[in-house]
Amino acid sequence: MNCRELPLTLWVLIFVSTTESCTSRPHITVVEGEPFYLKYCSCSPAHEIETTTKNWYKSSGSQERVELNPRSSSRIALHGCVLEFWPVELNDTGSYSFQMANYTQKWKLNVIRRNKHSCFTERQVTSKTVEVKKFLQITCENSYYQTLVNSTSLYKNCKKLLENNKNPMIKKNAELEDQGYYSCVHFLHHNGKLFNITKTFNITIVEDRSNIVPVLLGPKLNHVAVELGKDVRLNCSALLNEEDVVYWMFGEENGSDPNIHEEKEIRIMTSEGKWHASKVLRIENIGENNLNVLYNCTVASTGGTDTKSFILVRKADMADIPGHVFTKGMIIAVLILVAVVCLVTVCIIYRVDLVLFYRHLMRRDETLTAVVDEIHSLIEKSRRLIIVLSKSYMSNEVRYELESGLHEALVERKIKVILIEFTPVTDFTFLPQSLKLLKSHRVLKWKADKSLSYNSRFWKNLLYLMPAKAVKPGRDESEVLPVLSES
Ligand SMILES: *[C@@H]1O[C@H](CO)[C@@H](O)[C@H](O)[C@H]1NC(C)=O
Ligand SMILES: *[C@@H]1O[C@H](CO)[C@@H](O)[C@H](O)[C@H]1NC(C)=O
Ligand SMILES: *[C@@H]1O[C@H](CO)[C@@H](O)[C@H](O)[C@H]1NC(C)=O
Ligand SMILES: *[C@@H]1O[C@H](CO)[C@@H](O)[C@H](O)[C@H]1NC(C)=O
Ligand SMILES: *[C@@H]1O[C@H](CO)[C@@H](O)[C@H](O)[C@H]1NC(C)=O
Repeated sequence: MNCRELPLTLWVLIFVSTTESCTSRPHITVVEGEPFYLKYCSCSPAHEIETTTKNWYKSSGSQERVELNPRSSSRIALHGCVLEFWPVELNDTGSYSFQMANYTQKWKLNVIRRNKHSCFTERQVTSKTVEVKKFLQITCENSYYQTLVNSTSLYKNCKKLLENNKNPMIKKNAELEDQGYYSCVHFLHHNGKLFNITKTFNITIVEDRSNIVPVLLGPKLNHVAVELGKDVRLNCSALLNEEDVVYWMFGEENGSDPNIHEEKEIRIMTSEGKWHASKVLRIENIGENNLNVLYNCTVASTGGTDTKSFILVRKADMADIPGHVFTKGMIIAVLILVAVVCLVTVCIIYRVDLVLFYRHLMRRDETLTAVVDEIHSLIEKSRRLIIVLSKSYMSNEVRYELESGLHEALVERKIKVILIEFTPVTDFTFLPQSLKLLKSHRVLKWKADKSLSYNSRFWKNLLYLMPAKAVKPGRDESEVLPVLSES
């Protein structure tokens, strides 16, 4: 039997002795003020009934031994093979003997003081050691006084856990937190007086003596996204036995890297009496050489090893921008794009109005001033050739003007053509092919029956196609508005 088993065995013995019906221990320590009894061990039921004389004697110190009888003390009761104290007091300390015919049994009784400041007396505790995860049972029982017990309470470190129970008990798998003093207090009535008997267990929880196979927590391979120039902390944590070790391993071909530091190991005991260790590897100012290499963390014990690896990978550029900033940026970009598209669309739609407005502002004059009679020289000096297609106004003279003008416009490229359709181009058979190929924006269609207002789109478009002209103040109002109508 080794030393570890001793407290356990002792406890079992003591526990058994409290439930025994006779008092086999020759040396007994008891706390003052509690009911107590001594019982002769070879007492058979036959003996109990037998009329054989049974004698109880007490001797203390130098005193002669005296025979005990109910008259010697009101606290003493004799029931055949049993001597009862209601309750036992300090002056009951001494040697006791029982005699029946030629049978005899002796005890040494030591009554000790009660601890007035605690719910139990330290000298009277029964120690028990339980391993973590092993079965822990605390039962409050007293077989001798069973029939007299009114109620029983169970205390842990003098704090009530269970009360008024007939047989309070605890049954569980031991944890470190279960350590403490457990006191069973039985209350019983005798001759109208209330007594209590306290039994205290000193429960010590020790860690599981069997070794576990240590394990590293988390996945075996970890990809850690990092940014160059930043720091990273690789946390390696393990569940292990007290004597196991955790260490980091990584390639150090080019000597030890001054940017890599192993931090101090942190250990915390688990409720199962094992250890939770964590060790951090700090890599400062991450460089290209730190990327895509293995940083291994290993836990080693007599039972074997476990390794996990970390790999640093470059964080994707996109992910560099914090999520919310990225979203905001995207929204702003889209809004700007929409605004630009709207602006361009508006510019295209109101192109004519915008140019006219610009001309009005700048007051530029692109027209020529010379007046020439001859058609040709007139055409030569013209900046625009306005062709008004109308069946009722078609003559040879007009055809000449048209043809020479078109020549200037299309061959010499000196003037620009503006075609105003009174009648669709397709209705004329003699028109040169080139006229039909005129850019569509240079063709204005007259659709109305009556004259259009000067503000109408037709006149604005015509004005737009014409060269810019400075507006002379004072002449604007007197100028006759152009009128175009079928005549
Ligand atoms: C038990 O009895 C003793 C005296 O006999 C008393 O001092 C003590 O307070 C009692 N304990 C409880 C829990 O009542
Ligand atoms: C209770 O047990 C612990 C551990 O075995 C021991 O250190 C302590 O002294 C004991 N307490 C008493 C009052 O016996
Ligand atoms: C315990 O004692 C109290 C009062 O002395 C009594 O009222 C109660 O019924 C008793 N309980 C038991 C279980 O004997
Ligand atoms: C490492 O991780 C463990 C759990 O996985 C945690 O308990 C511990 O506090 C961490 N250590 C550091 C230094 O972050
Ligand atoms: C790290 O662990 C892996 C897999 O267990 C192994 O192949 C590699 O050689 C180890 N590297 C170092 C530097 O210990």
